[in-house]
Amino acid sequence: MSAGEAGGLVWVPQAAVIAREAGARLREFFARGVETEYKGDVDLVTVADRTCEALIKGRLAEVFPEHGVYGEEGTRERMEGEFRWYVDPLDGTTNFAHGFPQFCVSLGLEQRKAGLRADEDGTIVAGVIYDPMRDELFTAERGKGATLNGKAMEVSKIGLLAESLVATGFPSHKRHDNPNIHFYHEFTLRSHGVRRAGSAALDLAYVACGRLDAFWEFNLNPWDTAAGALLVEEAGGRISGFSDGPFELNSREVLASNGRIHGELVGLFKDMFAGRNLEPIPTPKEFAERRAERAAGR
Ligand code: IPD
Ligand code: CA
Ligand code: CA
Repeated sequence: MSAGEAGGLVWVPQAAVIAREAGARLREFFARGVETEYKGDVDLVTVADRTCEALIKGRLAEVFPEHGVYGEEGTRERMEGEFRWYVDPLDGTTNFAHGFPQFCVSLGLEQRKAGLRADEDGTIVAGVIYDPMRDELFTAERGKGATLNGKAMEVSKIGLLAESLVATGFPSHKRHDNPNIHFYHEFTLRSHGVRRAGSAALDLAYVACGRLDAFWEFNLNPWDTAAGALLVEEAGGRISGFSDGPFELNSREVLASNGRIHGELVGLFKDMFAGRNLEPIPTPKEFAERRAERAAGR
């Protein structure tokens, strides 16, 4: 399909073909089982991550020869160009390595007009996320809306955190520097529940299609978020930093929602960072003491 076909979409049709092809490879590897290597601490990588990044890099060079590619597994090509793809060939590697069927391919395209500083964001103009286990393709181009398997999708209409289903994730490196368990606890007590399904890109796609009402995470990378950020915006949601500043690809903090509950979420982050209004829960020791008292019939 050439550029300009498929409802005026410029990049999505070809990127979708590539994401589907990579997803099909992931399905094969998943069925066969793969050995796991460690990139660090509990940061896993498999032959599937590397093979799919190489495949995506090659296909992007065929269809968009002038575009740059910035991939999780080390690809850095044509980084000085106007367009740059952020590639996560397998988002959810830990799930994949354990046979837990929640992972995806994520391709996000940034347009960087001349004169931008290296640390300055361009504009994310296209995003494609493909879940090969459910055969679900999430796509968006800026200003043209977002789709799930070709049908328009939009964020949920829930207006209160107390009625929301939300999601988060935890990094696989510098785990001791991460305060997110406190946020997990607080959001659990204030919502219908917090899911931690292990694929940030799919979490963002799920906010975009209304299965989740919000998602946040500390320490993500641009290949995790570029595509999903545009999906959320084009589906009518909001994406920002924790203090409601603009979302930035390198800021390592992501707060996405259906828009309606965004103010409430930002308020909660503000309170939590200030140590205000936290809901108490018993420590394990306090709980064990009460448990022992109950067992003793006191
Ligand atoms: C990870 C997943 C996970 C998130 C981690 C990411 P990977 O990506 O998106 O949900 O919690 O922070 O690193 O390593 O599977 O591509
Ligand atoms: Ca990832
Ligand atoms: Ca990955």
